[in-house]
Amino acid sequence: MHIERLQIADLRVLATADLQLRPGINFFLGANGAGKTSVLESVHLLSYGRSFRAGGRDVLVRRGAESARVFAELVGLEGSRTRLGIERSGATWRGRVNDADIGQLHELFLRCAVACFEPGSHELISGASDGRRSLLDWGVFHVEPDFLALWRRYQRALRQRNALLRDQAPDDWFAPWEREMAESGIVVTRMREAYAAVLAESVVATAGEILPEFSGLKFQLLSGWKDDAPMDPGAAADRLAVERGRDRQRGYSRRGPHRADWGLLFDQVARREHLSRGQEKLCALTVILAQLECLQRLRRDWPVLLLDDLGSELDAEHQAHVLNWMQLRPVQVLITGVELPPALGDRDARLFHVEQGRVKPITGIL
Ligand SMILES: Nc1ncnc2c1ncn2[C@@H]1O[C@H](COP(=O)(O)OP(=O)(O)OP(=O)(O)O)[C@@H](O)[C@H]1O
Ligand SMILES: [Mg+2]
Repeated sequence: MHIERLQIADLRVLATADLQLRPGINFFLGANGAGKTSVLESVHLLSYGRSFRAGGRDVLVRRGAESARVFAELVGLEGSRTRLGIERSGATWRGRVNDADIGQLHELFLRCAVACFEPGSHELISGASDGRRSLLDWGVFHVEPDFLALWRRYQRALRQRNALLRDQAPDDWFAPWEREMAESGIVVTRMREAYAAVLAESVVATAGEILPEFSGLKFQLLSGWKDDAPMDPGAAADRLAVERGRDRQRGYSRRGPHRADWGLLFDQVARREHLSRGQEKLCALTVILAQLECLQRLRRDWPVLLLDDLGSELDAEHQAHVLNWMQLRPVQVLITGVELPPALGDRDARLFHVEQGRVKPITGIL
């Protein structure tokens, strides 16, 4: 999949932009504060309904404007075309697919798979498990049509069980919610396991290209259940019943797919805490690129990749590895930087200059 046309209105510093992107590398060049990251945020909105940067959703709307709007024309498998739009006004979102309003924004997100590496991505390795779980679930969401509904069902039952735990409710009130958690939770776990098995293969292959000094990097899924995940809903419900006493003391449910996580195992370093910040970033990038590869294998279509400030995140050698990785695959990439990375060299790329909120294609010799 690639974005052929991207229109942005009133998003942060960008008043209006109308861009023709190329299927391969698109590079956005400009000074600090020019609006480069805002261009990537616009694409991120179409896929997640939020920015990858910290801060509330209201800061996205340009100061003094009523709403922020993004529109994209996508070209997918065998040349299929889709028109997507998203608008933030006041506290509400509105999504459109092929010029029709949609009921739920995930109908939009499902059509627009975008992965992103940005200055905060090292958190994927060193931060809390929520970020790692979201990354994994993003992949599962894009290959398993029922995942989102099941996950919501599980979370609803989990909230009910946690409320009963906090209220010290009698034991027989728990059974319906534990059954519900067990039924949906087992399917969620199985879907994640199936996806993670393919992702793990992609991580090994991608590490060989991006992070060759970490040969033997392995991806490991942790299901969130104690030890092995239960085999069936009956066994899962039994486990929840056994855990209930201890969960009452803590006031929350300690086991289940809401506690799932993943980690990387290294031959070269004993623990992830031994990684440098740069190595954390490279590990995060390896998993992000592996996910693209994995989704391509499972859906036959490449997601779009955003690389914010690549030059300041990675040294020249690793930037070259990343650019080589891209060049070997028909993946659309949007990269930002305050200068062109030397590794870009004479690779085919469309260049855009960003200056005080205006984005213009650069033609001719730089
Ligand atoms: N809601 C808003 N309305 C208007 N301007 C905004 C808003 N939010 C942020 N800005 C401005 O947008 C600019 C930041 O844009 P952006 O982060 O895209 O720049 P950048 O080119 O990526 O910079 P850097 O190289 O420093 O990362 C800043 O000048 C900031 O003051
Ligand atoms: Mg930026």
